[in-house]
Amino acid sequence: MTVIGHGGRSLRQFLAHMISIRLANERDATLLPEIERSSGEIFRQSDGLEWIADDDVQSEAQHRALIATGVAFVAELEGRGVVAFLNGEVTPDALHIWQVAVHRDQQGCGIGRALIDAAQHHAIRHGVSSLTLTTFRKVPWNEPYYQRLGFMTLDHGHLGARLEAVLQAEGQAGLPIARRCAMRKPL
Ligand SMILES: CC(C)(COP(=O)(O)OP(=O)(O)OC[C@H]1O[C@@H](n2cnc3c(N)ncnc32)[C@H](O)[C@@H]1OP(=O)(O)O)[C@@H](O)C(=O)NCCC(=O)NCCS
Repeated sequence: MTVIGHGGRSLRQFLAHMISIRLANERDATLLPEIERSSGEIFRQSDGLEWIADDDVQSEAQHRALIATGVAFVAELEGRGVVAFLNGEVTPDALHIWQVAVHRDQQGCGIGRALIDAAQHHAIRHGVSSLTLTTFRKVPWNEPYYQRLGFMTLDHGHLGARLEAVLQAEGQAGLPIARRCAMRKPL
């Protein structure tokens, strides 16, 4: 295989044949905290956010709960196994994505995009009119990436009570709230 640079189209096309996205099952839960830990390594490149790489990740129990009652997908790479996940829950106004994480070795190959596509199809099939999430402003693989995928950053006046509460809880949990934003993609 020839790898043509970060995000190279031919690598993406090659991997598209080797990746399958499926609903997560309970057996996957043990693998997912380590995948999120690995995914966070990318934050070592981000000024002032390096500590995210050593921050807590969703626990196995939280994964089990989201697999049982929420929305949970994994990406499996042929010959390698599960390398990424997305989880969230359906709320009255949106499918809210709680976490997307791709193992550091597989980032930049379109797997995150494929997981978000899967969440989007799930939302549409269930009559849900938008996707929402919270993320870091201006970090290249967060806010600008989601904007390229069709998400809009919400002004404070347009957050609504649910997303305001999510951001507030993140602040209480120690995330730098000035660097966080909520985003919505209408479907
Ligand atoms: C965000 C994340 C899930 C994206 O998954 P992925 O499989 O790498 O995503 P894709 O390959 O679909 O796209 C990666 C995008 O990030 C950008 N990107 C990735 N690393 C980058 C870097 N170091 N510098 C600049 N841009 C970067 C790429 O340009 C690409 O955008 P594009 O497709 O519009 O060109 C993955 O980077 C990750 O696990 N990050 C750590 C956890 C995280 O931030 N989760 C999101 C919480 S809201």
